[in-house]
Amino acid sequence: MTPKTFGYIRQLVLTRSAIVLEPGKEYLVESRLGPLAKVHGFASLDEFADAMAAAPFGTMHRQTVEAMTTNETSFFRDIHPFEALKKTLIPEIIARKAASRQINIWCAAASSGQEPYSVAMLLREHFPELASWKITFIATDLSNAVLAKARSGRYGQLEVNRGLPAPLMVKYFTKDGTEWVIRDDIRNMIDFRELNLIEKWPLMPVFDLVMIRNVLIYFDIPTKKQILKNIRQVMSPTGILMLGGAETTMGLDDQFERVQVDKGVAYRQISTPSGAGRPHVAA
Ligand SMILES: C[S@@+](CC[C@H](N)C(=O)[O-])C[C@H]1O[C@@H](n2cnc3c(N)ncnc32)[C@H](O)[C@@H]1O
Repeated sequence: MTPKTFGYIRQLVLTRSAIVLEPGKEYLVESRLGPLAKVHGFASLDEFADAMAAAPFGTMHRQTVEAMTTNETSFFRDIHPFEALKKTLIPEIIARKAASRQINIWCAAASSGQEPYSVAMLLREHFPELASWKITFIATDLSNAVLAKARSGRYGQLEVNRGLPAPLMVKYFTKDGTEWVIRDDIRNMIDFRELNLIEKWPLMPVFDLVMIRNVLIYFDIPTKKQILKNIRQVMSPTGILMLGGAETTMGLDDQFERVQVDKGVAYRQISTPSGAGRPHVAA
């Protein structure tokens, strides 16, 4: 791959997804896009890039951006955030929403669905009282490929082996050949939608919980700041934000404060002077 090809791919991916491909990531581009170039009938990645550069944005460009995303995920990833949800954060949200009996959850950059399904199983398993509540649960991602998998709710043995406790696997999945398929009532809790975090967001509900984990790390600082600001616009003033273990709002958005919840970490908006409605998790 020539430097010109790398430069073109780098710019395409940056403009369309905000993912920054640092110099030195040429091997990653080669390994991810070489096969895609072949699928589209090009003998080399350079030819593929030249063809894209000469054409308006279309399927090839889109698939290139999707191929450069990292979709790494697993059930109950890092476990502590889910323990914090179970022990403290969901009970707090339930207490605050007792009057409306409605909870709105957004799992952004949800990849192939393991994260939102983990939350859905957690709600079903530990909060049976929510059965009569209205739960709006939206899970989004940029990539159509991962969304299709998420909607199918089908996972291989290696995927369920990563983080899914055996009792939950037996209870919430059925075996179909070599795959495990999530139960319809769990799948139907979640509305999977395409959403590019750097494009204009559609009208969304006011969220009580936003999980946007392990995606901000790929973005530059202005993009992180803009996304955190946008998240505040769609969050309830008492809402909870959860980020990946290597991510923080610190130095990016001073309207959020970090809250230690057991061994997990969450973020909430700095409260109004009255402090009304603010969650009671230990700061
Ligand atoms: C590493 S995965 C994280 C999955 C899950 N949140 C977790 O923590 O296990 C990152 C996801 O972010 C998505 N992504 C990357 N750039 C995005 C963007 N600009 N808008 C929306 N999603 C994006 C990728 O498609 C990928 O599925």
